[in-house]
Amino acid sequence: MANILCIGAGFVGGPTMAVIAKHCPEHRIVAVDINAAKIAAWQSDHLPIYEPGLKEIVLAVRGKNLFFSTEIERHVAEADIIFVSVNTPTKTFGQGAGKAADLQYWEKTARQIVESSSSSKIVVEKSTLPVRTAEAMERILNSNEKGLFFDVVSNPEFLAEGTAVEDMQNPNRVLVGGQQTPSGQRAVQAIVDIYAHWVPRERIITTNLWSSELSKLAANAFLAQRVSSINAIANLCEKTGADVTEVAHAIGTDSRIGARFLQASVGFGGSCFKKDILNLVYLCEFYGLDEVAAYWEQVVRMNAYQQASFVSKMVAAMFNTVAGKRIALFGAAFKAHTSDTRESPALAVCRELLEEHAHVVITDPYALESARADLHDVAGRVTFEPDPYAAARDAHAIAIATEWPQFAKLDYAAIYETMVHPAFIFDGRNILDHNKLFEIGYNVYAVGKPPLTHFENSNPVL
Ligand code: UDX
Ligand code: ADP
Repeated sequence: MANILCIGAGFVGGPTMAVIAKHCPEHRIVAVDINAAKIAAWQSDHLPIYEPGLKEIVLAVRGKNLFFSTEIERHVAEADIIFVSVNTPTKTFGQGAGKAADLQYWEKTARQIVESSSSSKIVVEKSTLPVRTAEAMERILNSNEKGLFFDVVSNPEFLAEGTAVEDMQNPNRVLVGGQQTPSGQRAVQAIVDIYAHWVPRERIITTNLWSSELSKLAANAFLAQRVSSINAIANLCEKTGADVTEVAHAIGTDSRIGARFLQASVGFGGSCFKKDILNLVYLCEFYGLDEVAAYWEQVVRMNAYQQASFVSKMVAAMFNTVAGKRIALFGAAFKAHTSDTRESPALAVCRELLEEHAHVVITDPYALESARADLHDVAGRVTFEPDPYAAARDAHAIAIATEWPQFAKLDYAAIYETMVHPAFIFDGRNILDHNKLFEIGYNVYAVGKPPLTHFENSNPVL
């Protein structure tokens, strides 16, 4: 039996600990957080995050071998293994502002671990951190005067939101990196043993510490790069009359390229992609690799362009003005099946539309609360409406910003009757049946496809 602690009960810490608790009944797992409201929510029936399948697991193990608490010091003292999954936002000040990770929470956590410990422990980096952070961690932890020794292990998180539970239960791989010393290897083995309860051994990869840290940044950079690449091609499709879905299918059948992550969109969002790439860019710059830094930075720049140009295309299509027009924004979450709105392209689109003086009405099945909090600075200029039919009533346009399957199942013929005409649909996720919408009467603009409009003599493709 081991006492496993997770510091930080957020999107990563919560689901990760729940799944570990489910598969390791002999271990006692505690997740702590400084945010008392969040801990109270984890203890209630209304969990602080929405993830398919999460509630069932939490209800099955909570109070048995999974506990949530705000008593950080006590649980640190009791723990054998401490996972750290506190947030590492991008620095907003000083050196590396806008790019480097802000490590103040991490360092505070490390110091807190030292202060509250009276036995040696394994500390696991779960948050994404710049390469070689573990080294700094080891120095802080092992400069204690209590004679304690801390092994630092990197175990990056690859779960994607919306499929967090499934990704944890059935991962492509688990990565555990550690020092190449006997003690470091024992620590790696202890973490491997946890995952080996349910993950086939061949899917558990062990590396040195730095490879593990860099692999996390590299994986997210490669994934984000695919989205920016297909979005770049989508722009060319719109100019030439090619259809990006056809192009994505055609190139995706090449097994070297693969079909996944080629969905052209209004841009990528989420707490990881932009942050991790900028982190990578900062690292490259730090080591004088300016060309390498510029290469990766372009992935983020392309994404910003994709979000901004979505709104430019809306304005251009709607006779060069959206001022005073009601626009129904379908989606607030950064992708479907999550309540998370961090870096959501939907909110970027919302802000751009507000700049154009549009009246934005946002609808989303799970993320409205989070959107309201994020948009507090423009409160009063945005309406939050849980019912998509009500959101679209009297609107000039619908803009799809999140690929919720619910949005594809709405009765668009009925919606059309309630909208201002000519009515527009901008499908930023290519989830709707565009020909059908066109037949109903809409002017339809999708990402990377020729527009379908009812206007005479319009040739907006070229
Ligand atoms: C990502 C990584 O996938 C995960 O491994 C890592 O641990 C955390 O970062 P996440 O941010 O939850 O996960 O979402 P992901 O599914 O990767 O999507 C990121 C963004 O890209 C979303 O906004 C999504 O809508 C967008 N996307 C994804 C596209 O626009 N097109 C695609 O083809 C795929
Ligand atoms: P992630 O997506 O990385 O899990 P979240 O913001 O969802 O990010 O979760 C990080 C959690 O870490 C938050 O709930 C935050 O309150 C918590 N946290 C930050 N600093 C500390 C700390 N020093 N001790 C405990 N919890 C912390």
